[in-house]
Amino acid sequence: MGGSNRPESAGKMAKAVLGEESIELPIVVGTEGERAIDIGQLRNRTGYITLDDGYANTGSCKSAITFIDGERGILRYRGYPIEELAERSRFTEVAYLLIEGHLPTHEEEARFSRLLTENELLHEDMRFHFEGFPSTGHPMAILSSIINAQSCFYPELLLPDKQENFEIMAARLMSQVRTVAAYAYRKSRGLPFIYPNPDFKYSENLLHMMFSLPYKPYDLKEEVIKALDLIFLLHADHEQNCSTSTVRMVASSGANLFACVAAGVCALWGPLHGGANQAVLEMLNEIHRSGDDGSNFIEMVKDPANKQRLMGFGHRVYKNFDPRAKIIKAQSDRLLAALNLSDPLLDVAQRLEEKALSDPYFVDRKLYPNVDFYSGIMMRAIGIPVAMFTVMFAIGRMPGWIAHYKEILDSSKSRIDRPRQIYVGERERHYVPRDQR
Ligand code: CMC
Repeated sequence: MGGSNRPESAGKMAKAVLGEESIELPIVVGTEGERAIDIGQLRNRTGYITLDDGYANTGSCKSAITFIDGERGILRYRGYPIEELAERSRFTEVAYLLIEGHLPTHEEEARFSRLLTENELLHEDMRFHFEGFPSTGHPMAILSSIINAQSCFYPELLLPDKQENFEIMAARLMSQVRTVAAYAYRKSRGLPFIYPNPDFKYSENLLHMMFSLPYKPYDLKEEVIKALDLIFLLHADHEQNCSTSTVRMVASSGANLFACVAAGVCALWGPLHGGANQAVLEMLNEIHRSGDDGSNFIEMVKDPANKQRLMGFGHRVYKNFDPRAKIIKAQSDRLLAALNLSDPLLDVAQRLEEKALSDPYFVDRKLYPNVDFYSGIMMRAIGIPVAMFTVMFAIGRMPGWIAHYKEILDSSKSRIDRPRQIYVGERERHYVPRDQR
């Protein structure tokens, strides 16, 4: 179980009746009143386990990092509403908040910022690793491979006392993931690598490393930096999603921070998770190219025989508007106006949203736009290529993954994650030599 000791048992018990037997199970209540039945003793005492496909009803841990109320569209980092943080904070401050649990003082912020700057350079030998990838390689594959390979350069990661170097390792990972992302992009374009500039803040440094040319520094526009920083901030954590649960699961085995996060990057890549932002843009492009006003596409995704989904719609937890989607939509409108851009894909997205929100298929299933529906439009306006969209999500999610890793590291009670299963395969049978099969 992860770090917090705040959620307390209400002292109430639930009763499970299993044929002739019954068992009382403690009820656990979180600080926001969410209730769970603690089944820790279920198998020992009854021989039963629970079966929960996709974990939709399973709390895998207690956590004090992020709170979501999917019915009411609420998202809070360490208690602070996402709307307030989006309005008043910035990505690195939110990263500190998530990892350390409180908003930094001046001194804490200065120290964190110094650690990010001091650790922004990759080991020089890492540059050669990029040469082994084809220029067409997906940047998420490069990102996860390079993050994992970094463990080789920091042997202290493998020491048993992982707490000792945690602060430096966390700063190193957060800072260098940006450098790796920029290098992956430069490699795909056959461009020379640009070193980070210590005078730049987090998000502007990424834009500089991605887009500056040796003969022409990138024109860093305030509204573009702000928009990118907001994308990172909105993606910084989202409790037990697929990639974060992956990070926690790998961490539960005692693996090092870089290995855990590399696994998280792989989980994030899938189109049902972080890869959805790329899939949304591809979908919008395809609809635009075909001349469809969105109606045909909506009919197609409603057909149960068709595997295609309306990408950027629906969420396991939100059964109402994803609060991040509202913020991103407003910010992308502002960004397009500030840059004096119009994007036909934005019109397609708006038409699709309108149609879906008034269609009983989506209404009955409580399917609303999620964070990925408009984030691609904003990234496109910034000039980020589609293949890099999920990498941006990964950079944003880094503090969340680090915070969850730390929660496990700091917990005195953590056990290796090891679910059970219900076996439905062959019963015992015996080996038959090949000539008798
Ligand atoms: N388009 C069409 N139908 C959908 C969609 C969609 N986007 N999402 C869910 N449904 C239908 C689904 O077919 C099912 O219908 P039925 O009850 O008739 O079988 C019903 O809604 C429930 O779907 P589910 O697959 O059981 O829901 P889930 O909680 O397992 O999946 C999801 C959540 C996000 C994977 C899913 O909504 C989806 O595939 N969305 C599109 C991909 C996407 O945008 N992913 C980004 C998620 S937000 C960012 C992140 O956290 O990574």
